[in-house]
Amino acid sequence: MNPRKTKVLMVCLGNICRSPLAEGILKSMVDPGLIEVDSAGTAGYHIGNPPDERSLAIARQFGIDISEQRCRQVRQIDLRNFDLIYAMDEANLAHLLEMARSNEERTKVRLLLEEVSPGPRDVPDPYYGGTSGFEKVYHLIHEACEAISRKLSDQDNQL
Ligand code: 4NP
Repeated sequence: MNPRKTKVLMVCLGNICRSPLAEGILKSMVDPGLIEVDSAGTAGYHIGNPPDERSLAIARQFGIDISEQRCRQVRQIDLRNFDLIYAMDEANLAHLLEMARSNEERTKVRLLLEEVSPGPRDVPDPYYGGTSGFEKVYHLIHEACEAISRKLSDQDNQL
């Protein structure tokens, strides 16, 4: 029996391109009764906005609807409340580690693509590029989320 759900937070800069995809993809792979997934941005440029059109489109192409998501900024309390906090790139990782107030909070924070090493460490920021960047980002995130969902179920939801 799991005493409580495992809570996973996906974090990028704007919370409109990469982390909404990561939230949607991981949610599509796990039991919502066991695993809770959310996303947030280290910056506050787009608070309250839906995901970027290009993220909406690539998710839709793979059968995932992320249109209900709304951008929010990461908060101090997220480091306390979540069990696993995945940064999309090194800059987001550094930001989260600066926010962490204890070793316990620091150990929750990691790079998403470390779940699929060896390979690139960062999910590249696709915001200023074209749609092919979003497709690449989708596949990188999908592979990492498969590893995370396997790990969560292998470990019987105990990390
Ligand atoms: P994200 O992409 O961090 O994957 O959501 C970005 C979204 C917006 C901006 C930068 C990156 N921006 O500068 O507004």
